Amino acid sequence: MQLLTTPNEMRAWSRARRRDGRRIGVVPTMGALHAGHLELVRAAAERADDVVVTIFVNPLQFNQSADFDSYPRPIDDDVRQCEAAGVAAVYAPTASVMYPDGFQTHVEPGDLADRLEGPMRPGHFRGVTTVVTKLFGAVEPDVAMFGRKDFQQLAIITRMVADLDMGIEIVGVPIVREHDGLALSSRNVRLTDRDRSAALVLSRSLQSGRAAYERGDTDASSLIDLVRSSIEAEPRARLEYVELVDSATLRDVDRADDHSVLLTAAWFGDVRLIDNLPLEAG
Ligand code: PAJ
Repeated sequence: MQLLTTPNEMRAWSRARRRDGRRIGVVPTMGALHAGHLELVRAAAERADDVVVTIFVNPLQFNQSADFDSYPRPIDDDVRQCEAAGVAAVYAPTASVMYPDGFQTHVEPGDLADRLEGPMRPGHFRGVTTVVTKLFGAVEPDVAMFGRKDFQQLAIITRMVADLDMGIEIVGVPIVREHDGLALSSRNVRLTDRDRSAALVLSRSLQSGRAAYERGDTDASSLIDLVRSSIEAEPRARLEYVELVDSATLRDVDRADDHSVLLTAAWFGDVRLIDNLPLEAG
């Protein structure tokens, strides 16, 4: 497995592979790899000859420097996991390579970034679209994998690739969960035991919303109230939002249907978690 740290090295490697007719799949990550990331690697391997994992904790997308500082960075373990998973190359640039003095160009997302996570995290998605554009520029992938865990991120990147004619296939991968339902996240390791148990309320509450929909309740505010009151019943949860939106436009809906998705964000101690559940049975 190759470990590459500059865009020029990365691009040279990728171009050489593509000259040999190989299809390149990329899995962009911020490291602290877990089974959710590895599922993206598996999905990439089904669609590409060579899988590249990028590992970069992107300062541009953190709006709280404490969150950036405390973000886990187990790079040696990450590299080992990539090797074991059959990854062809890891691209792990440093912050000064990505953002040298004088850096000033950003990719501005449209109104898909204005709702849900957007108002809670000013500048976050602009940081994501900018770094993903740079990663795509270095890797020059044919296909890129993103988790549905970050549902809005997936929608914004799909839109960006279409709007900017990037010609990269974007694939969304379903959320990987622990056996008890907690969505895997690199931030879960920062939860105390009690908050870890309390955080199960997110997936459980979303499930109860979907169950109500399956029983015939299609009124958006009734479904949202059900999920919200269920999360608020957990004293350790500080709820930010529960929303029901159309999965393509991310706009609020009045009536739920099979294209709707329930999304939530909440704090447990100083850890912010997000989760979502499509209403379509599956
Ligand atoms: P990160 O949080 O490391 O996530 C990398 C990818 O893994 C994202 O596409 C995310 O949706 C996916 N992922 C995380 N947990 C998952 C889970 N439980 N199930 C399925 N997929 C999961 O998202 C980012 O990094 C960054 O914003 C990035 C795109 C790399 C840009 O910096």
